[in-house]
Parts: sequence; structure tokens; C-alpha cells
Amino acid sequence: MGINSKDLISLSDLSIQEIHEIFTNAKSMKEIINREIKKVPTLRGKAIINLFYENSTRTRSSFELAGKYMGADVINISASSSSVAKGESLRDTAKTIESMGADVVVMRHPASGAHHILAQAVKARVINAGDGTHEHPTQALLDIFTILEHKGTIRGKKVAIIGDILHSRVARSNIWGLNALGADVWICGPPTLMPSQVDKLGVNVTWDIQKALKDADVVMMLRIQLERQKSGLFPSIREYSKLFGLNKNKLKLAKEDALVMHPGPMNRGVEITADVAESYQSVIEEQVTNGVAIRMALLYAMGGGKINASA
Ligand code: CP
Repeated sequence: MGINSKDLISLSDLSIQEIHEIFTNAKSMKEIINREIKKVPTLRGKAIINLFYENSTRTRSSFELAGKYMGADVINISASSSSVAKGESLRDTAKTIESMGADVVVMRHPASGAHHILAQAVKARVINAGDGTHEHPTQALLDIFTILEHKGTIRGKKVAIIGDILHSRVARSNIWGLNALGADVWICGPPTLMPSQVDKLGVNVTWDIQKALKDADVVMMLRIQLERQKSGLFPSIREYSKLFGLNKNKLKLAKEDALVMHPGPMNRGVEITADVAESYQSVIEEQVTNGVAIRMALLYAMGGGKINASA
């Protein structure tokens, strides 16, 4: 199996068939992750560079583990501790990485669209690990994979995505993927935290959390991105939490077996209460485990290895 597109910048770079193949392979990868010795030689001899211009815990470490579990050499570069801090441009950093022989570059960048510059500058395959407020395609893959594991299908499932839609690259990638797979997608948040052409997203839009939650199969809460907020987008954290935060009482509006999801990192007590985050309905920790499996499956597809489950 392979992926036609050289790079994964938006989730729409993948065909539906490629998405399903990644999900199928992620199941085999989970089996490897659960072994005592988590090592297969699938990507031996391949070099993966994690180039992070923004902070990350989950995405960066899961790409690193995914590459290492499959035998690749993985190098992490953080903007703050690299020559970027001395003023090196993205193009020059890209050329330097290319000269070292990278096969895959995984990048997170605060500027939406920065990955197009990188992808044009290098022959290596580029994976978007989050760009500004644009997309986070591997997060959407792991989220949809997690829903599939529990619900068996995406088609017809009501998925409520609640919170700061305006700044959320997670929401943008999930909306595309969930729509493509036939979900009934609802987005909910304050009008000031909705994108300008929200009606073009092809989803149900509401400012009323009760409508979004009613009979939902999946409730996906988004982080309030305090680092990207301009002042005045909502009156106060307290008011936001009261109107758009998820607590046990509000969750009762959703189906009894509704999944509670959050991409992390969470602002506990703001967009989600601690008891909901830790309830039996929460699959937040599973999302993290599935993040490693999905990124293994993606690196396998983009790095050109073969799964050798017996190794
Ligand atoms: N969900 C997510 O992207 O988390 P990190 O910022 O920790 O990578």
C-alpha cells in the first residue's frame, strides 16, 4: 500500500480508499504496540525528521515512537533550540534537512500554509503535524479511527464538535474527514469563535450546546486556544465554561453510549470538567494510543516499508 500524494498537508490529500487502508494497517500497528518488544524493521534505513516550530507533547512524541518502533532513525528539531532561533529561514532549514538525506519530514508550524513552502523545497515527503489554524490531518485520522473502533461505522453518526472552531485545525481536518465518511456533523461555539464562511463547511451550525449535544453519538470538545485568542472574543473564561463547557449534566443530553473526545491538551474546568474527562464515556487516553498506531500506519505508507509482524 502507498499514498499517491507526495505530501500529507490536508486530509483531503488522501483518497477515501487510502484513509481506509491506513485504518486497516493501524489495527496491525496496535498489535505491535501491545507487544513486550515493540520493534519491527519495517522502516530500517529510513530517516525521519520531526521539525517543530510550536510546542507539542502528543504529536511529536507519537511520531518519534512510531518511527522508532518501525526501525527508522528519528531526529527531533525544535525551533527554539535550532538555528531557526538565529534567524534561519524555513526554506534554508528545509534545504539543510534535505542535504542530510531525510526521507520524511514531519513539521508543525504556527503559520497556516507553511507546509507548502517546505514541500516545494524538499524531495522528502512532508507530513503536516499542525499548521496554524489550518489543518491537523493526523489528529483527524486518529480521532476517526477511534470512533470507528467503538461505533463500527461513521455513516449517520451524529458528531458534535464544540468550542473554539475558529482557531481549531483539529476541527477543520475532522470536519472534512467526517463529512467524507458520511457523519452528521454539528459544530457549536460562540459566534465570535466561528469561521467567517461557516455555512460553506457543509455542517450543521448552532450556538446552542443543548442542540449540538441532543442524541449525539460522539462529543468532541476543543481546547480554548488561549495563545491564539485576540481580546474580546468571549467575555470571560467563567462565562465560556458555563455556556460551552461540557459537564455531567449536559452530557446526559447525548446518547447514553456517546463517546467523549478531546485532542488534548485539555483545559480542565474550562471546556471539560475533570469528572467527564475521566468518565467511562471518555476515550481521551485511547486517542493518544491510537495516535501512535495511526502515525505508524501513515509512516509505513509514506516511508515505503513492509509490515513484518513476525519480526
Ligand atoms: N493534539 C495535539 O496536537 O496535541 P499536542 O499539541 O500535544 O501535539
